[in-house]
Amino acid sequence: MARPQNHQELPACYAMVHPGLEEVAAEEIRAELGGDVKRAEDGFVVFRLREIDRGILQLRTTEDVYLHAWGTDKLSYRATDLESIRRWTDKDADWPALLKIHHAVTPKPKGKPTFHLVVQMTGVHGYRRIDARNALAQGLAGKIPASWRLVEENAALEFWLSIHGATAICGLRLSDRTMRQRAYKVEHFPASLRPTMAAAMVRLADLKPHHVLLDPMCGAGTILAEAHQYARQHERPQVPWRLTLLGGDIDPHHVRAAKANLHHLPELPLRTWDARRLPLEDTSVDRIVCNLPFGKQLSSPEEIGPLYYDAIPEMDRVLRPRGKAVLLVAEAQALKAAIHPVGWKQERFLPVRVLGQRAVIMVYRKP
Ligand SMILES: C[S@@+](CC[C@H](N)C(=O)[O-])C[C@H]1O[C@@H](n2cnc3c(N)ncnc32)[C@H](O)[C@@H]1O
Repeated sequence: MARPQNHQELPACYAMVHPGLEEVAAEEIRAELGGDVKRAEDGFVVFRLREIDRGILQLRTTEDVYLHAWGTDKLSYRATDLESIRRWTDKDADWPALLKIHHAVTPKPKGKPTFHLVVQMTGVHGYRRIDARNALAQGLAGKIPASWRLVEENAALEFWLSIHGATAICGLRLSDRTMRQRAYKVEHFPASLRPTMAAAMVRLADLKPHHVLLDPMCGAGTILAEAHQYARQHERPQVPWRLTLLGGDIDPHHVRAAKANLHHLPELPLRTWDARRLPLEDTSVDRIVCNLPFGKQLSSPEEIGPLYYDAIPEMDRVLRPRGKAVLLVAEAQALKAAIHPVGWKQERFLPVRVLGQRAVIMVYRKP
């Protein structure tokens, strides 16, 4: 564990998040790590921690986390940026300190260390991505021991430079792909949710230990798996969690996929059902967290409105008063129209993108 005496000595960290989830990720970083969030926008959250240890790798709503080397909002879009990138990389970052913390969080594999340079670039710039990568490599000259090998994949160390418009951020990647790809997810299908998005929806539900959580259109069960994980993370000897999970789907293949992904919870009742006629008692659930089908996933977008008009009153019937619903939809207007008659109050509205499509996470409270 890296533990310098003074927290000012620690570098900042940053997380890359699914666009639209910046605020939820910032809330997770504050709540779970006690982080001091400096900035949360454009797919990045920059924050400071009192200690940087493996706890940072337990974040559930972030795609990747990094040690911050340098950052700017003042790229000129001109080729002169290349000299700035080289200079900032050379002069502005304390690479020995960053490497030491990286090794403490992610132990060095045996054998000759390997490294990799990754440059992401969006926006129209007067230089190419390869030029920015060369500038990064020039700035790093002499910072990386000569014995280390540059490789194209599976490197022990990844130096990242992300350029988005006038903003650039450079750092050392701490996480690997296991941060965003969960080990439980053995079954996938095209409309299946990203685990980080499901984790964000679960956080927005504000779960309590005794709650009953329902996903009436559970697909491959990602939301239920993340809710179970959330409960496990928050379990304390003095606060045992007794979260009850309920889920089902109209498609038996999806129910089978959910059973495979939730095989670690064999007692969980997953059923083939129609969310418009749920086999559940009135006011019997505290939270509904659900990713409803998008227009594109049904045979025509016109089917979405009627599905929402039938499914929402049924969700209202089973949701207890003051209960919350967190719903991810592509057709926000159709959802609002279906919610209007049941009188739920909108608490949050988070625009996101799902598989390149505009979507929104809506949080509602039943009166
Ligand atoms: C977008 S997917 C859900 C994906 C899921 N969150 C996951 O991570 O895999 C929507 C799901 O709604 C299901 N569905 C559609 N109409 C339904 C209905 N009337 N009752 C129950 N499930 C339904 C579909 O079969 C599909 O699995």
